[in-house]
Amino acid sequence: MAEIKRVGVLGCGLMGSGIAQVCAAAGYDTLVREVSDELCERGIGGISKQLGKSVEKGKMAAEDRDAIVGRLRGTTKLEDLADCDIIIEAVVEDLAMKNEMWRTLDAVCGPDTIFASNTSSLTIADMAAATKRPERMVGLHFFNPVPVMKLVEVVKTIATDAQVFDTAFEFARSLGKEPIVCKDNSGFVVNLLLVPYMMDAIRCLEQGVATTEDIDKGMRLGTGYPMGPFVLCDFVGLDTLDKIGGIMFDEYKEKRYASPPLLKRMVSLGYYGRKSGKGFYDYS
Ligand code: CAA
Repeated sequence: MAEIKRVGVLGCGLMGSGIAQVCAAAGYDTLVREVSDELCERGIGGISKQLGKSVEKGKMAAEDRDAIVGRLRGTTKLEDLADCDIIIEAVVEDLAMKNEMWRTLDAVCGPDTIFASNTSSLTIADMAAATKRPERMVGLHFFNPVPVMKLVEVVKTIATDAQVFDTAFEFARSLGKEPIVCKDNSGFVVNLLLVPYMMDAIRCLEQGVATTEDIDKGMRLGTGYPMGPFVLCDFVGLDTLDKIGGIMFDEYKEKRYASPPLLKRMVSLGYYGRKSGKGFYDYS
């Protein structure tokens, strides 16, 4: 099986920074690409801060934190990722933007580099088709917060090479994660079930079945979920939920994936959840 030593991560936002953190923590040299030096510094600074909390809690030695941060580097140039063994993309859910990056990387990377996408709702085949290496493209879908959530969905398309898939699967395991095998259908396993659940909770609120707080309480205490659906919506980001629901609705044409009117209005007003300070709850 091909050995992975150097990892490239595209994007250092919420998901990208978590992915970079777990890669560096697992011992991989990790190069993060962002669009500006400022975003690189903010992303890597955030990881350092997050690890600092573990040091404060006595869960990590200061030298281990320094070693992890020492394995992380930032760049603004896609070309700098040319000698990575695997590149994991975690930028916004915009196929054209993702494919522009893949085309550039396809031209500069060696033939063995594996391309992996953390997309939550686009299909991997739609990205593979933009490259001359469709057999080396997989999905590696992580969950938020990446350092905590154990699952990674490893996605194979009808074109993915079996050895490439096995390498990606073992790579996910090497990060201390529990991978599962998924087919390349929009939403894979988790979002196929989770997105309709969150949309249904919003419809339940629209219909006045119960209050936001009571729907959350009901699902937490009645089913043992760690978060109620509205806390989860705010955590995922309402703009992200609206976007992935839209992509899944386009794919399946089923109402359960469609954004309810309330979600659309909240997104129009910039109520994105935790990241904007307001969503179903107030965080200011
Ligand atoms: N980053 C890193 N670590 C974090 C964190 C974060 N954002 N948030 C919490 N943690 C850590 C805490 O530091 C704590 O670590 P220690 O045990 O080492 O002290 C641990 O997680 C537990 O945190 P808390 O005690 O503060 O809170 P909690 O027990 O309520 O757990 C939670 C927090 C793990 C987020 C939990 O509420 C949970 O599992 N929620 C559900 C999350 C979920 O469903 N995620 C999937 C979203 S969908 C998605 O990501 C896919 C998509 O495509 C949309």
